[in-house]
Parts: sequence; C-alpha cells; structure tokens
Amino acid sequence: MQHISDLSAPPILGQFYMVPTVTAIWCGSLGEYPVIGPLHNDRQHIGFDRDHWHIDTRFAASPRLLKDETNPEYWRRIMATPIMRTWKSSMFSRKEPRSVAAVYARRWKCKRQAPDHISLFEDSATTANEGWKAHFDHWAGHQCKKDGNGWRCPHRNVSLANQPVINGIVRCPLHDLMIDNATGRVLSRPAMRPQIRALRTLNENQPAEANAK
Ligand code: FES
Repeated sequence: MQHISDLSAPPILGQFYMVPTVTAIWCGSLGEYPVIGPLHNDRQHIGFDRDHWHIDTRFAASPRLLKDETNPEYWRRIMATPIMRTWKSSMFSRKEPRSVAAVYARRWKCKRQAPDHISLFEDSATTANEGWKAHFDHWAGHQCKKDGNGWRCPHRNVSLANQPVINGIVRCPLHDLMIDNATGRVLSRPAMRPQIRALRTLNENQPAEANAK
C-alpha cells in the first residue's frame, strides 16, 4: 500500500494509504489520529510554545465533539486544534502528563480532500493578527526546494506534492503559506488575497460534507 509521503498527486477519495499516526488525546478523546508534518512548535512569529502535530484532515474521522462538517466553524476548529505531544486527562489532574510514545504508519481511508475546507478556516492572509502577518511576511518570496515528488514547504519541509493545485497555487496545510506551483515561490500577503477569494467561491459551490464515507 502506498505511503502518503510517496505520492506526487493528491490521494484519491475512498482509497487507503499508509499515513503517519499518533495515539494521543485530541478533542477530549484518546485514540489514534493521522498527522501531517513534523512535531514542532510555533514559537517564532505566532508565539505558540507547545510541541504539537497537525491533524491530516484528509484521513481523520470526525471527532466526537465536532460532528457537523457542514458547519463552517467545524474546519476552523479542527485546524486550530493540533495534537499536543504531552497532555493531562484534565486540567485538575495530579498525574504526570502523558506523552505521545511514537509516530507510526497506519492504514487510513481518504475521506475528503483539502478543497472542501480550504477557505473555511481563518483567513490568515488578511487577519489583523500580528504574529500571522509576521509569519507570512517572513516567508514571502522564499523559494521552495523540490524532491522527487514535487515542492516542499520552506517552513517545515512538508511535502506539498500530495496537496491539490488550485488556480496554479498550492497551499501548505500546516500554516497556510501559498506557493506558485510553476515557480515554487511563496506568495506575499497581497498576492494571496485573490486566491483566497477564488477558493471561497469554489468552496461555496461545492458541498462541505465528506465525499466518501
Ligand atoms: S509547514 Fe508551516 S507553512 Fe508549511
């Protein structure tokens, strides 16, 4: 079975892939979750200190607490809720925090594709948040490197080869950098705006629900 990191095109809905996975608490539930990108923190620019992974939304089951994928808040909250490396079962627990033991590959079905929710979360490029602005301004104009599959994000070296290219632009699913797929250059914030508008229109014209059960 193909590993997601070996793909040079987006995964196909309904097909199974080997995907990096962790066992952790996420949205209040202990379970196995597909993750994308490395363990990292966002101390630089964004000021988020805790080590975490991002959920790979293409493969994740709907969390128990967040069932309604048609609600625009759904994806916004998913993207804003990473998996922490360490966690406590509750705020008041006196037990030592637990940690993710390892990242391992597990078989997951592709349940949805990024365009379904690409424009539904925080419109980071136009936000007033200074940290996000600093993030985009820092990376604008950087040149992506290429591996055998395609571009890699210059921020955390995430493969962009298995992300959809929409209007010639590929978006990094971790922190929203947008890259010109022809040149591998990261877009500036002003250059991102028309793409965000286009994605929003695209999104409004298609169902936000999962395409494959
Ligand atoms: S890894 Fe942060 S924007 Fe790509």
